[in-house]
Amino acid sequence: HDVVERPLSPGEGGETHQQPDAGGPTLTTSQGAPVADNQNTLRGGTRGPALLEDFHFREKIFHFDHERIPERVVHARGYGAHGYFETLEAIPELTSANLFQEAGQITPAFVRFSTVAGNKGSPDLARDVRGFAVKLYTQEGNWDIVGNNIPVFFIQDAIKFPDLIHAAKDEPDRGFPQAQTAHDNFWDFISLMPESMHMVMWIMSDRTIPRSFRFMEGFGVHTFRMINAKGEGTFVKFHWRPKLGMQSVLWDEALKINGADPDFHRRDLWDAIQSGDFPEWELGLQIFDDAFADAFPFDVLDPTKIIPEEDVPLRIVGRLVLDRMVDNFFAETEQVAFMTQNIVPGIDFTNDPLLQGRNFSYLDTQIKRLGGPNFTHIPINAPRCPFHHFQQDGHMAMQAPKGRANYEPNSWAQGGPRADPKRGHVSFPEELSGEKRKVRPESFADHYSQARQFYISQTPLEQTHIADALIFELSKVQAPEIRERAVAHLPNIDTGLAQKVADGLGMKAVPKAHTPAKAPIETMPS
Ligand code: HEM
Repeated sequence: HDVVERPLSPGEGGETHQQPDAGGPTLTTSQGAPVADNQNTLRGGTRGPALLEDFHFREKIFHFDHERIPERVVHARGYGAHGYFETLEAIPELTSANLFQEAGQITPAFVRFSTVAGNKGSPDLARDVRGFAVKLYTQEGNWDIVGNNIPVFFIQDAIKFPDLIHAAKDEPDRGFPQAQTAHDNFWDFISLMPESMHMVMWIMSDRTIPRSFRFMEGFGVHTFRMINAKGEGTFVKFHWRPKLGMQSVLWDEALKINGADPDFHRRDLWDAIQSGDFPEWELGLQIFDDAFADAFPFDVLDPTKIIPEEDVPLRIVGRLVLDRMVDNFFAETEQVAFMTQNIVPGIDFTNDPLLQGRNFSYLDTQIKRLGGPNFTHIPINAPRCPFHHFQQDGHMAMQAPKGRANYEPNSWAQGGPRADPKRGHVSFPEELSGEKRKVRPESFADHYSQARQFYISQTPLEQTHIADALIFELSKVQAPEIRERAVAHLPNIDTGLAQKVADGLGMKAVPKAHTPAKAPIETMPS
């Protein structure tokens, strides 16, 4: 910008006031009043005190003081982009979901990638799970697939989520580490929770240090249901497959990149999309029925387990393309509110106890984070199809309902919307029975088999990376008993891996393996 000198007013000192001549509109207050001077507070006398009367100063400072909203309690650091989902194969026999009725149909989408444990300012290449949250603005409402880049999770029941996250984030007394898994609290908790062992193998793999968001897979993790127009249901797992394939960096590279460019993943996505190199993923479905679920050696409701693709191959039904960056990071990426409860007719939940808990948590946290019940009025969260309901008022209400009827049933001629059993979401009529109890099913008990299957499915080089990651992470753990307890899980996964890690940590011998728990909620002795 050219700078011009503002002429001094009579009586002003000799100081220079620089103002850019931007040729733009006149600066106003947020009430629209033109501003004459944006450099000085109103003072009593040239060198006197600032006056409370300066409404422009007060408005400006007040607004600045309130710029921050709470960061997400998890997945605080993230980066989002707009795009679209294209249906490649119509699947009306599986689901009545509107977006799957015709091949070629385009559904607008917004995706936010994230790390889990680090705070908003943490480096992009921490060893961590990546969030892969997709909002599909369908013609029958917003459908969110709030997934990760790993197909399993640490815990089986949402009641353990606060414990997991407390243990994974910075320790409460010292306030560090801010973005690493390598610390005592994390390994203390994890080593007491054998159900996390499958996920531990995945997080020690190269998946947790991806080269870029563009080279990552995404997973809905839980088993969901699809329901067709006849009311018939099938089980389904959702997979996003990157067109570019999967790539990771090496741990040494990750450490250097974090120091040199903590925004590495953000910059990569920004540069790719701005230069027209649009990342793309295929949507693959794993579809199976009750007979398969009953015969499967693990429980399909257990989020610490996968359904192997050898048993149920992926059926590719669509593609997701990201082709536009946000106009404003805060308005879109920060304020986007993903919620597992956002489903549409033709899609349904299952009784996975982690999913059921998530369905409560996300709505609750959005109300807190976005300041009240009207966060669907924020453009990024608003549906892009017609919507009509009787919810009203509350903090920051932006949409005022018109007319007199704000309740239902009513007898007014313009009485407003009515529920429609033919169009609306109908839950799968699953039969329920059993005692009301706090119990975890026996079918959730096997914590090591799939951890072993994952480890042995890796190439020798990938196995070395897992061993190296375990050695690096556990070498940072200061309490020897926690380290031992963690390593004592490994012989149940792979004896060679256990030996390598014990050697790498300078242990005299591999600690005696834990006896696999008989009941799934037994924890390890501390
Ligand atoms: C945020 C995934 C388990 C509570 C997120 C986000 C993702 C995600 C991707 C970030 C969304 C965004 O980009 O804005 C998952 C997956 C889980 C899981 C895949 C397991 C399969 C849980 C559980 C709970 C939970 C069990 C609680 C019971 C939250 C909360 C947020 C969050 C409170 C912050 C949301 C916000 O403030 O916008 N999760 N999560 N998550 N998750 Fe989860």
